[in-house]
Amino acid sequence: MPRFLRGIPPMAGLLLCGLAASSDPLPPDTTYRPLPTLPFSAVKANDEAQKRQVMQRQANLLNQRYDLSDRPIPGVMMSGGRKPVQGGVRVKLPESVTWDSLAAMSVDEIRQRGLLPAGFMPLPHVKQATGGQIFPTQQIDEIQRQEARDLRRFDVDFDLPDHVTPEFPPPIFLTTHPELGDVSRGQLLTIKNFYELMNGIITPVQMEGLRLLLTPFPQEEFNQTEDRKVAAQSLGVTCLECHSNFHTNGAFHQTPDIRPQAARFRLDTTSLRGIFNQQIHGSKRSLRSVEDFTEFEQRTAYFNGDHVSATRKGVNLPDRTNQVAMMAQMQNIIDFPPVPKLDPFGRLDPAKATEQELAGERIFFGKGRCGECHIAQTSFMDNNMHDLKLERFYRIGQTVNDMVMLPDGPIKTFTLRGIKDSPPYLHDGRLMTLADTVEFFNLVLGVRLTQQEKDALVAYMLTL
Ligand code: HEC
Ligand code: HEC
Repeated sequence: MPRFLRGIPPMAGLLLCGLAASSDPLPPDTTYRPLPTLPFSAVKANDEAQKRQVMQRQANLLNQRYDLSDRPIPGVMMSGGRKPVQGGVRVKLPESVTWDSLAAMSVDEIRQRGLLPAGFMPLPHVKQATGGQIFPTQQIDEIQRQEARDLRRFDVDFDLPDHVTPEFPPPIFLTTHPELGDVSRGQLLTIKNFYELMNGIITPVQMEGLRLLLTPFPQEEFNQTEDRKVAAQSLGVTCLECHSNFHTNGAFHQTPDIRPQAARFRLDTTSLRGIFNQQIHGSKRSLRSVEDFTEFEQRTAYFNGDHVSATRKGVNLPDRTNQVAMMAQMQNIIDFPPVPKLDPFGRLDPAKATEQELAGERIFFGKGRCGECHIAQTSFMDNNMHDLKLERFYRIGQTVNDMVMLPDGPIKTFTLRGIKDSPPYLHDGRLMTLADTVEFFNLVLGVRLTQQEKDALVAYMLTL
């Protein structure tokens, strides 16, 4: 039995290699990534032959967990005004319970009867055993159009429908020019257009930082060796291909912070809006500066935290004083979207907010206890990590699509500023809507909200 599963009841840990085993084996319980044993053409052919099955397996999981239909909240758009915000609870309930009856049960009863909705559990990567970066189709198409660079993998595709991902391309707001509003002009920033779009608005240092954030560098799946997942040899990927326009497009990879492979959780790209206010970075890493994170993304987002594999594929390590500092300065001027209804303390202005939004604010800071971690004065976060202890509600050690369900452990409190712009939610994107997050926290925190209170909380979060 793999070492990390000792101490977990039997039955756990079977099936760890699963689907990917025949083409590119990642042994389930090692620290280092092995060298490929088959020639590129054979790996590619095997991966392509399995792709349909891999995608079908993930689609089955998603359909079993979620209602992924296109049901926007009438009249509510993301900040750029082009994409509707999806509404309603999308996590499916087990038969025989309602949200209220579930919330009324004891934690032990929910665990013993296996009643925690599966959509609340960790969400596997679309191909857990292989992992790596997966870009949504709109991003792939736009980079192909502007740069003739291919971000499409031959082994897997993005797994969520467009309507549950962020607006694309998202607007860009600068702390240095609030009066300009969105400076993206509806375009996706790339190496081709950034100069034209930003000339005269940002400083020379910021411009150089931006250039580096848009320059492709080799990455685990996109590189020039035979150990890649893109058909042609690739220049790599850029920072803003996941953090598109400094926000997120829903691209994901796996946490670089955990081994073995089967235990690595999915990581939904975070927005870079407002990171000037964050004191800790990364859901688990707790790095203390944007500079540190920028430097380490070349090892982590790019190479899974594996410096051994990285060296072989040509990692680019930006120079701390000349390059990282400029990249960080550019990231540090990206603002949250404007909030016309909030006052300087981060509280709703009663003259501008609706009754329901004001009720939502009272619950947020009162009965719902949200404001104890999402503190208004510090961009609705607290610069701390918290252990929500979700595993109280389910039996750990089950394997789902090659991922072992283990406790999430402490995770950084994410900001709720501009939150309607960044579905899916939680570090792995396991929740599709804000209504899902309310049901999640209602259960996890045991705060017993009524339906009316839940609706008010959602209405409130839409104002942030
Ligand atoms: C796979 C797409 C991807 C690419 C490419 C990528 N990132 Fe990230 N980035 C992420 C994810 C996912 C996280 C969240 C990490 C976590 O929670 O541990 C993140 C987090 C960050 C953070 C911390 C944000 C916070 O919430 O505190 C910074 C800063 C950052 N990235 C900068 C960069 C830079 C600079 C580059 C290029 C060198 C880059 N990223 C490339 C996906 C990506
Ligand atoms: C004990 C601290 C704590 C409390 C209380 C709390 N949260 Fe959170 N919140 C977190 C943490 C930690 C995360 C990140 C969890 C993860 O990704 O696994 C989070 C994430 C979220 C997210 C998703 C953010 C994103 O970018 O994906 C939303 C929405 C949210 N919380 C809403 C609420 C609401 C609504 C309440 C009250 C009903 C609440 N939270 C109460 C700590 C807390």
